Amino acid sequence: MDTPIKKHVLLAICGGIAAYKSAELVRLLRKKGLDVRVVMTVSAHEFVSPLTFQALSGNPVHLQLLDAEEENAMGHINLARWADVVIIAPATANTIAKCAHGLADDLVTTLFLAATCPLYMAPAMNQSMWNKAITQDNISKLESYGVVFIGPDSGHQACGEVGYGRMAEPADICQRVCEHLTVPMMAQPKISALAGVKVLITAGPTREHIDPVRYITNRSSGKMGYALACAALKAGAEVSLISGPVNLAEPVGVDFIQVETAAQMYEAAMARAADVDIFIAAAAVADYTPSLTENVKIKKICDQTSILLNKTQDILAAVALLTPAPFTVGFAAETHDLETYAQDKLRKKKLDMIAANWVGRAEGGFDSEQNALEVFWQNGRTSLAMASKTVLAEQLINSIATRFNEKKSRS
Ligand code: CTP
Repeated sequence: MDTPIKKHVLLAICGGIAAYKSAELVRLLRKKGLDVRVVMTVSAHEFVSPLTFQALSGNPVHLQLLDAEEENAMGHINLARWADVVIIAPATANTIAKCAHGLADDLVTTLFLAATCPLYMAPAMNQSMWNKAITQDNISKLESYGVVFIGPDSGHQACGEVGYGRMAEPADICQRVCEHLTVPMMAQPKISALAGVKVLITAGPTREHIDPVRYITNRSSGKMGYALACAALKAGAEVSLISGPVNLAEPVGVDFIQVETAAQMYEAAMARAADVDIFIAAAAVADYTPSLTENVKIKKICDQTSILLNKTQDILAAVALLTPAPFTVGFAAETHDLETYAQDKLRKKKLDMIAANWVGRAEGGFDSEQNALEVFWQNGRTSLAMASKTVLAEQLINSIATRFNEKKSRS
Protein backbone atom coordinates (compact mmCIF):
# COMPACT_ATOMS: atom_id res chain seq x y z
CA MET A 1 0.00 0.00 0.00
CA ASP A 2 1.41 3.42 -0.91
CA THR A 3 1.40 5.71 2.08
CA PRO A 4 2.43 9.35 1.84
CA ILE A 5 5.82 9.88 3.44
CA LYS A 6 5.95 11.50 6.87
CA LYS A 7 2.34 11.66 7.82
CA HIS A 8 2.08 12.16 11.56
CA VAL A 9 0.61 9.47 13.77
CA LEU A 10 0.14 10.14 17.46
CA LEU A 11 -0.14 6.85 19.34
CA ALA A 12 -1.55 7.02 22.86
CA ILE A 13 -0.94 3.98 25.03
CA CYS A 14 -3.04 3.20 28.10
CA GLY A 15 -2.27 0.83 30.97
CA GLY A 16 -3.21 -2.70 29.95
CA ILE A 17 -1.39 -5.91 29.21
CA ALA A 18 -2.04 -5.31 25.48
CA ALA A 19 0.43 -2.37 25.70
CA TYR A 20 3.16 -4.77 24.60
CA LYS A 21 1.35 -5.17 21.24
CA SER A 22 1.69 -1.42 20.67
CA ALA A 23 5.45 -1.85 20.29
CA GLU A 24 4.74 -3.94 17.18
CA LEU A 25 2.23 -1.32 16.03
CA VAL A 26 4.90 1.42 16.22
CA ARG A 27 7.28 -0.79 14.24
CA LEU A 28 4.67 -1.43 11.52
CA LEU A 29 3.68 2.24 11.28
CA ARG A 30 7.32 3.29 10.97
CA LYS A 31 7.82 0.66 8.28
CA LYS A 32 5.08 2.39 6.28
CA GLY A 33 7.12 5.60 6.37
CA LEU A 34 4.97 7.30 8.99
CA ASP A 35 6.30 9.65 11.66
CA VAL A 36 5.14 8.25 14.99
CA ARG A 37 5.09 9.98 18.37
CA VAL A 38 4.05 8.09 21.47
CA VAL A 39 2.27 9.33 24.58
CA MET A 40 1.63 7.05 27.56
CA THR A 41 -0.56 7.13 30.62
CA VAL A 42 1.13 6.65 33.99
CA SER A 43 -0.17 3.10 34.26
CA ALA A 44 0.97 2.26 30.69
CA HIS A 45 4.61 2.62 31.67
CA GLU A 46 4.05 0.07 34.42
CA PHE A 47 3.55 -2.43 31.57
CA VAL A 48 6.14 -1.38 28.96
CA SER A 49 9.07 0.97 29.39
CA PRO A 50 8.87 4.33 27.56
CA LEU A 51 12.39 3.58 26.39
CA THR A 52 11.05 0.78 24.20
CA PHE A 53 8.75 3.20 22.41
CA GLN A 54 11.42 5.88 22.21
CA ALA A 55 13.76 3.42 20.50
CA LEU A 56 11.07 2.12 18.13
CA SER A 57 9.55 5.48 17.22
CA GLY A 58 12.83 7.42 17.10
CA ASN A 59 11.09 10.23 19.01
CA PRO A 60 10.92 11.17 22.68
CA VAL A 61 7.97 9.64 24.50
CA HIS A 62 5.55 12.02 26.21
CA LEU A 63 4.36 11.03 29.66
CA GLN A 64 3.16 14.00 31.71
CA LEU A 65 0.49 16.57 31.07
CA LEU A 66 2.39 19.25 32.93
CA ASP A 67 6.06 18.77 32.41
CA ALA A 68 8.03 22.00 31.98
CA GLU A 69 10.63 20.37 29.73
CA GLU A 70 8.12 18.65 27.50
CA GLU A 71 5.88 21.70 27.34
CA ASN A 72 8.87 23.62 25.99
CA ALA A 73 9.72 20.94 23.45
CA MET A 74 6.23 19.98 22.30
CA GLY A 75 3.34 20.78 24.60
CA HIS A 76 0.06 18.90 24.49
CA ILE A 77 -1.65 21.44 22.24
CA ASN A 78 1.25 21.38 19.79
CA LEU A 79 1.20 17.58 19.81
CA ALA A 80 -2.53 17.59 19.05
CA ARG A 81 -1.95 20.05 16.19
CA TRP A 82 0.98 18.00 14.88
CA ALA A 83 -1.07 14.78 14.52
CA ASP A 84 -2.75 13.75 11.24
CA VAL A 85 -4.38 10.93 13.13
CA VAL A 86 -4.58 9.90 16.79
CA ILE A 87 -4.78 6.23 17.78
CA ILE A 88 -5.43 5.17 21.35
CA ALA A 89 -4.20 1.57 21.54
CA PRO A 90 -4.77 -0.08 23.87
CA ALA A 91 -7.76 2.01 24.94
CA THR A 92 -8.79 0.87 28.41
CA ALA A 93 -12.35 0.99 29.75
CA ASN A 94 -11.24 3.83 32.04
CA THR A 95 -9.81 6.02 29.26
CA ILE A 96 -12.80 5.27 27.01
CA ALA A 97 -15.13 6.35 29.84
CA LYS A 98 -13.15 9.53 30.49
CA CYS A 99 -13.08 10.43 26.78
CA ALA A 100 -16.82 9.78 26.46
CA HIS A 101 -17.44 12.28 29.24
CA GLY A 102 -14.96 14.93 28.12
CA LEU A 103 -12.66 14.48 31.10
CA ALA A 104 -9.07 15.58 30.53
CA ASP A 105 -7.04 14.75 33.62
CA ASP A 106 -3.94 13.28 31.97
CA LEU A 107 -1.94 13.68 28.78
CA VAL A 108 -3.86 11.05 26.78
CA THR A 109 -7.35 12.34 27.56
CA THR A 110 -6.23 15.97 27.14
CA LEU A 111 -4.81 15.18 23.70
CA PHE A 112 -8.01 13.36 22.81
CA LEU A 113 -9.98 16.48 23.69
CA ALA A 114 -7.57 18.86 21.97
CA ALA A 115 -7.15 16.88 18.73
CA THR A 116 -9.12 17.98 15.69
CA CYS A 117 -7.85 15.18 13.42
CA PRO A 118 -9.55 11.75 13.06
CA LEU A 119 -9.46 9.63 16.21
CA TYR A 120 -9.18 5.87 16.40
CA MET A 121 -9.48 3.65 19.46
CA ALA A 122 -8.42 0.00 19.77
CA PRO A 123 -10.09 -1.17 22.99
CA ALA A 124 -8.54 -3.85 25.20
CA MET A 125 -10.11 -5.07 28.40
CA ASN A 126 -11.61 -8.05 30.18
CA GLN A 127 -14.66 -9.42 28.35
CA SER A 128 -17.08 -8.62 31.21
CA MET A 129 -15.86 -5.03 31.26
CA TRP A 130 -16.34 -4.84 27.48
CA ASN A 131 -19.83 -6.33 27.73
CA LYS A 132 -20.98 -3.95 30.51
CA ALA A 133 -23.78 -1.71 29.30
CA ILE A 134 -21.95 1.37 30.58
CA THR A 135 -18.88 0.56 28.41
CA GLN A 136 -21.08 -0.06 25.38
CA ASP A 137 -22.91 3.23 26.03
CA ASN A 138 -19.58 5.06 26.20
CA ILE A 139 -18.53 3.48 22.91
CA SER A 140 -21.80 4.38 21.17
CA LYS A 141 -21.42 7.93 22.45
CA LEU A 142 -17.87 8.24 21.13
CA GLU A 143 -18.90 6.67 17.79
CA SER A 144 -21.67 9.24 17.50
CA TYR A 145 -18.94 11.89 17.80
CA GLY A 146 -16.98 10.26 14.98
CA VAL A 147 -14.44 8.16 16.89
CA VAL A 148 -13.67 5.00 14.92
CA PHE A 149 -13.23 1.78 16.91
CA ILE A 150 -10.94 -0.97 15.64
CA GLY A 151 -11.77 -4.27 17.36
CA PRO A 152 -11.73 -5.62 19.95
CA ASP A 153 -11.20 -9.18 18.79
CA SER A 154 -12.68 -12.21 20.47
CA GLY A 155 -10.66 -15.05 21.98
CA HIS A 156 -8.61 -16.13 24.99
CA GLN A 157 -7.69 -13.25 27.28
CA ALA A 158 -4.70 -12.68 29.54
CA CYS A 159 -7.06 -13.02 32.55
CA GLY A 160 -7.96 -16.57 31.46
CA GLU A 161 -11.45 -15.70 30.24
CA VAL A 162 -12.74 -16.05 26.68
CA GLY A 163 -14.72 -13.43 24.79
CA TYR A 164 -14.50 -9.99 23.19
CA GLY A 165 -11.89 -7.64 24.60
CA ARG A 166 -8.57 -8.59 23.04
CA MET A 167 -6.91 -5.65 21.34
CA ALA A 168 -7.09 -5.86 17.53
CA GLU A 169 -3.92 -7.14 15.92
CA PRO A 170 -1.29 -4.42 15.26
CA ALA A 171 -1.31 -5.33 11.54
CA ASP A 172 -5.06 -4.61 11.36
CA ILE A 173 -4.75 -1.31 13.20
CA CYS A 174 -1.84 -0.33 10.94
CA GLN A 175 -3.83 -1.24 7.84
CA ARG A 176 -6.84 0.84 8.92
CA VAL A 177 -4.71 3.85 9.71
CA CYS A 178 -2.82 3.59 6.42
CA GLU A 179 -6.09 3.26 4.51
CA HIS A 180 -7.28 6.39 6.24
CA LEU A 181 -4.13 8.32 5.41
CA THR A 182 -4.19 7.34 1.73
CA VAL A 183 -7.95 7.65 1.16
CA PRO A 184 -9.36 11.18 1.13
CA MET A 185 -11.63 11.91 4.13
CA MET A 186 -14.74 12.16 1.97
CA ALA A 187 -14.30 8.52 0.93
CA GLN A 188 -14.25 7.25 4.51
CA PRO A 189 -17.11 4.89 5.37
CA LYS A 190 -19.97 6.45 7.24
CA ILE A 191 -20.30 5.08 10.74
CA SER A 192 -24.08 5.10 10.46
CA ALA A 193 -24.22 3.61 6.95
CA LEU A 194 -26.85 1.08 8.13
CA ALA A 195 -28.58 3.11 10.83
CA GLY A 196 -31.89 1.45 11.71
CA VAL A 197 -31.51 -1.17 8.94
CA LYS A 198 -32.48 -4.76 9.87
CA VAL A 199 -29.81 -7.28 8.92
CA LEU A 200 -30.13 -11.08 9.14
CA ILE A 201 -26.95 -13.14 8.91
CA THR A 202 -26.34 -16.90 8.81
CA ALA A 203 -22.96 -18.17 10.04
CA GLY A 204 -20.95 -21.29 10.71
CA PRO A 205 -21.38 -24.87 9.57
CA THR A 206 -24.39 -27.14 10.01
CA ARG A 207 -24.40 -30.68 11.39
CA GLU A 208 -26.34 -33.36 9.57
CA HIS A 209 -26.89 -36.37 11.81
CA ILE A 210 -26.20 -39.90 10.59
CA ASP A 211 -26.88 -41.61 13.91
CA PRO A 212 -26.74 -40.56 17.60
CA VAL A 213 -22.91 -40.33 17.54
CA ARG A 214 -22.04 -39.29 14.00
CA TYR A 215 -22.75 -36.33 11.79
CA ILE A 216 -21.62 -34.67 8.55
CA THR A 217 -20.20 -31.18 8.87
CA ASN A 218 -17.53 -28.93 7.30
CA ARG A 219 -14.55 -26.77 8.24
CA SER A 220 -16.39 -23.45 8.58
CA SER A 221 -15.36 -21.63 11.80
CA GLY A 222 -18.14 -19.04 11.65
CA LYS A 223 -15.58 -16.23 12.04
CA MET A 224 -16.61 -14.36 8.89
CA GLY A 225 -20.33 -14.44 9.74
CA TYR A 226 -19.67 -13.31 13.33
CA ALA A 227 -17.32 -10.55 12.12
CA LEU A 228 -20.04 -9.42 9.70
CA ALA A 229 -22.57 -9.31 12.55
CA CYS A 230 -20.21 -7.08 14.57
CA ALA A 231 -19.43 -4.87 11.57
CA ALA A 232 -23.15 -4.46 10.76
CA LEU A 233 -23.83 -3.55 14.40
CA LYS A 234 -21.07 -0.96 14.24
CA ALA A 235 -22.64 0.47 11.10
CA GLY A 236 -25.83 1.05 13.10
CA ALA A 237 -27.87 -1.99 11.98
CA GLU A 238 -30.25 -4.11 14.06
CA VAL A 239 -28.65 -7.52 13.66
CA SER A 240 -29.99 -11.06 13.94
CA LEU A 241 -27.43 -13.86 13.74
CA ILE A 242 -28.43 -17.45 13.03
CA SER A 243 -25.47 -19.61 13.92
CA GLY A 244 -24.55 -23.23 13.46
CA PRO A 245 -22.27 -24.87 16.06
CA VAL A 246 -19.03 -22.83 16.43
CA ASN A 247 -16.48 -22.04 19.13
CA LEU A 248 -17.10 -18.30 19.20
CA ALA A 249 -18.61 -16.04 21.85
CA GLU A 250 -22.11 -14.78 21.07
CA PRO A 251 -21.66 -11.17 19.89
CA VAL A 252 -23.11 -8.65 22.33
CA GLY A 253 -26.06 -6.66 21.02
CA VAL A 254 -27.30 -9.08 18.37
CA ASP A 255 -30.46 -11.16 18.38
CA PHE A 256 -28.79 -14.58 18.50
CA ILE A 257 -30.40 -17.79 17.24
CA GLN A 258 -28.54 -21.05 17.76
CA VAL A 259 -29.27 -23.89 15.33
CA GLU A 260 -27.63 -27.17 14.45
CA THR A 261 -28.95 -28.60 11.18
CA ALA A 262 -29.54 -27.15 7.71
CA ALA A 263 -33.28 -27.72 8.20
CA GLN A 264 -33.26 -25.74 11.48
CA MET A 265 -31.27 -22.95 9.83
CA TYR A 266 -33.78 -22.85 6.99
CA GLU A 267 -36.72 -22.62 9.43
CA ALA A 268 -35.02 -19.89 11.48
CA ALA A 269 -34.09 -17.86 8.40
CA MET A 270 -37.48 -18.13 6.71
CA ALA A 271 -39.26 -17.13 9.93
CA ARG A 272 -37.35 -13.82 9.93
CA ALA A 273 -36.34 -13.05 6.33
CA ALA A 274 -39.57 -11.30 5.31
CA ASP A 275 -39.05 -8.81 8.12
CA VAL A 276 -35.47 -7.73 7.35
CA ASP A 277 -33.85 -5.31 4.90
CA ILE A 278 -30.63 -7.23 4.24
CA PHE A 279 -29.94 -10.97 4.30
CA ILE A 280 -26.32 -12.17 4.32
CA ALA A 281 -25.80 -15.92 3.89
CA ALA A 282 -22.33 -16.48 5.33
CA ALA A 283 -23.08 -19.97 6.65
CA ALA A 284 -21.55 -23.06 5.08
CA VAL A 285 -24.84 -24.91 4.93
CA ALA A 286 -24.66 -28.63 4.17
CA ASP A 287 -25.83 -29.20 0.61
CA TYR A 288 -26.90 -32.74 1.47
CA THR A 289 -28.28 -34.43 4.58
CA PRO A 290 -28.73 -38.16 5.33
CA SER A 291 -32.11 -39.26 4.04
CA LEU A 292 -32.53 -41.17 7.29
CA THR A 293 -31.05 -40.52 10.74
CA GLU A 294 -30.67 -43.82 12.56
CA ASN A 295 -31.98 -43.89 16.15
CA VAL A 296 -29.24 -46.26 17.25
CA LYS A 297 -25.52 -46.33 16.56
CA ILE A 298 -24.70 -47.95 13.21
CA LYS A 299 -22.51 -51.03 13.71
CA LYS A 300 -19.61 -51.91 11.38
CA ILE A 301 -21.09 -55.12 10.09
CA CYS A 302 -20.36 -54.74 6.37
CA ASP A 303 -17.05 -54.23 4.54
CA GLN A 304 -18.59 -51.43 2.55
CA THR A 305 -21.44 -49.14 3.27
CA SER A 306 -23.04 -45.99 1.85
CA ILE A 307 -25.32 -43.29 3.11
CA LEU A 308 -28.14 -42.01 0.97
CA LEU A 309 -28.18 -38.21 1.02
CA ASN A 310 -30.97 -35.82 0.13
CA LYS A 311 -30.38 -32.27 -1.07
CA THR A 312 -31.11 -29.63 1.60
CA GLN A 313 -33.25 -26.60 0.89
CA ASP A 314 -31.19 -23.66 -0.36
CA ILE A 315 -31.84 -20.94 2.23
CA LEU A 316 -30.22 -18.18 0.20
CA ALA A 317 -32.16 -18.98 -2.96
CA ALA A 318 -35.43 -19.25 -1.00
CA VAL A 319 -34.91 -15.85 0.64
CA ALA A 320 -34.04 -14.22 -2.70
CA LEU A 321 -37.33 -15.56 -4.11
CA LEU A 322 -39.49 -13.85 -1.46
CA THR A 323 -41.65 -10.97 -2.66
CA PRO A 324 -40.54 -8.49 -1.65
CA ALA A 325 -37.11 -9.98 -1.00
CA PRO A 326 -34.56 -8.35 1.26
CA PHE A 327 -31.29 -7.15 -0.27
CA THR A 328 -29.67 -10.57 -0.56
CA VAL A 329 -25.94 -11.32 -0.30
CA GLY A 330 -24.45 -14.76 -0.83
CA PHE A 331 -21.02 -16.30 -0.46
CA ALA A 332 -19.18 -18.63 -2.80
CA ALA A 333 -16.16 -20.66 -1.76
CA GLU A 334 -14.38 -22.02 -4.81
CA THR A 335 -11.24 -24.01 -5.56
CA HIS A 336 -11.25 -23.06 -9.28
CA ASP A 337 -12.99 -20.79 -11.82
CA LEU A 338 -13.96 -18.45 -9.00
CA GLU A 339 -15.43 -15.65 -11.09
CA THR A 340 -17.41 -17.94 -13.40
CA TYR A 341 -19.01 -19.83 -10.50
CA ALA A 342 -19.63 -16.68 -8.47
CA GLN A 343 -21.29 -14.85 -11.39
CA ASP A 344 -23.32 -17.99 -12.09
CA LYS A 345 -24.60 -18.17 -8.49
CA LEU A 346 -25.34 -14.42 -8.49
CA ARG A 347 -27.53 -14.84 -11.57
CA LYS A 348 -29.15 -18.21 -10.84
CA LYS A 349 -30.03 -17.46 -7.23
CA LYS A 350 -31.15 -13.90 -8.15
CA LEU A 351 -28.83 -12.28 -5.60
CA ASP A 352 -28.00 -8.61 -5.17
CA MET A 353 -24.36 -9.37 -4.35
CA ILE A 354 -22.01 -12.29 -3.95
CA ALA A 355 -18.70 -12.45 -2.09
CA ALA A 356 -16.40 -15.13 -3.42
CA ASN A 357 -13.24 -16.51 -1.91
CA TRP A 358 -10.65 -19.10 -2.79
CA VAL A 359 -10.53 -22.25 -0.68
CA GLY A 360 -7.91 -24.99 -0.56
CA ARG A 361 -5.04 -22.48 -0.83
CA ALA A 362 -2.28 -21.77 1.67
CA GLU A 363 -3.77 -18.49 2.94
CA GLY A 364 -7.35 -17.56 3.78
CA GLY A 365 -10.50 -19.64 3.59
CA PHE A 366 -12.41 -21.66 6.10
CA ASP A 367 -10.77 -21.86 9.52
CA SER A 368 -8.18 -19.18 8.78
CA GLU A 369 -7.98 -15.83 10.63
CA GLN A 370 -7.58 -14.06 7.29
CA ASN A 371 -9.33 -13.98 3.98
CA ALA A 372 -9.60 -12.07 0.71
CA LEU A 373 -12.81 -11.58 -1.28
CA GLU A 374 -13.90 -10.89 -4.84
CA VAL A 375 -17.28 -9.20 -4.61
CA PHE A 376 -19.67 -9.10 -7.56
CA TRP A 377 -23.01 -7.44 -8.22
CA GLN A 378 -25.00 -6.96 -11.39
CA ASN A 379 -22.94 -4.19 -12.93
CA GLY A 380 -19.85 -4.09 -10.83
CA ARG A 381 -17.22 -5.75 -8.76
CA THR A 382 -14.61 -4.98 -6.14
CA SER A 383 -11.61 -6.83 -4.74
CA LEU A 384 -11.02 -6.86 -0.99
CA ALA A 385 -7.37 -7.69 -0.33
CA MET A 386 -6.15 -10.31 2.18
CA ALA A 387 -6.88 -9.01 5.67
CA SER A 388 -8.15 -10.26 9.00
CA LYS A 389 -11.80 -11.29 8.93
CA THR A 390 -12.60 -8.33 11.23
CA VAL A 391 -11.19 -5.80 8.75
CA LEU A 392 -12.61 -7.65 5.76
CA ALA A 393 -16.08 -7.77 7.33
CA GLU A 394 -16.06 -4.01 7.86
CA GLN A 395 -15.05 -3.45 4.23
CA LEU A 396 -17.72 -5.85 2.99
CA ILE A 397 -20.42 -4.26 5.16
CA ASN A 398 -19.46 -0.86 3.74
CA SER A 399 -19.73 -2.21 0.22
CA ILE A 400 -23.10 -3.86 0.99
CA ALA A 401 -24.36 -0.63 2.60
CA THR A 402 -23.41 1.38 -0.48
CA ARG A 403 -25.20 -1.02 -2.89
CA PHE A 404 -28.19 -1.40 -0.54
CA ASN A 405 -28.61 2.38 -0.20
CA GLU A 406 -28.21 2.82 -3.98
CA LYS A 407 -30.93 0.22 -4.63
CA LYS A 408 -33.20 1.82 -2.03
CA SER A 409 -32.81 5.26 -3.56
CA ARG A 410 -33.72 3.83 -7.01
CA SER A 411 -36.92 2.16 -5.79
N1 CTP B 1 -26.51 -21.70 0.98
C1 CTP B 1 -27.71 -21.70 1.64
N2 CTP B 1 -28.40 -22.86 1.82
C2 CTP B 1 -27.93 -24.01 1.35
C3 CTP B 1 -26.70 -24.04 0.68
C4 CTP B 1 -26.01 -22.87 0.50
O1 CTP B 1 -28.14 -20.63 2.09
N3 CTP B 1 -28.63 -25.12 1.56
C5 CTP B 1 -25.80 -20.44 0.75
C6 CTP B 1 -24.49 -20.30 1.52
O2 CTP B 1 -24.71 -19.69 2.78
C7 CTP B 1 -23.69 -19.40 0.59
C8 CTP B 1 -24.15 -19.84 -0.78
O3 CTP B 1 -25.44 -20.39 -0.59
O4 CTP B 1 -24.04 -18.04 0.73
C9 CTP B 1 -23.26 -20.86 -1.36
O5 CTP B 1 -23.81 -21.25 -2.58
P1 CTP B 1 -23.81 -22.74 -3.07
O6 CTP B 1 -24.26 -22.75 -4.48
O7 CTP B 1 -24.55 -23.61 -2.15
O8 CTP B 1 -22.31 -23.06 -2.97
P2 CTP B 1 -21.74 -24.44 -2.70
O9 CTP B 1 -22.38 -25.08 -1.51
O10 CTP B 1 -20.28 -24.27 -2.61
O11 CTP B 1 -22.25 -25.19 -3.97
P3 CTP B 1 -21.43 -25.86 -5.14
O12 CTP B 1 -20.87 -27.05 -4.50
O13 CTP B 1 -22.45 -26.15 -6.16
O14 CTP B 1 -20.42 -24.87 -5.57
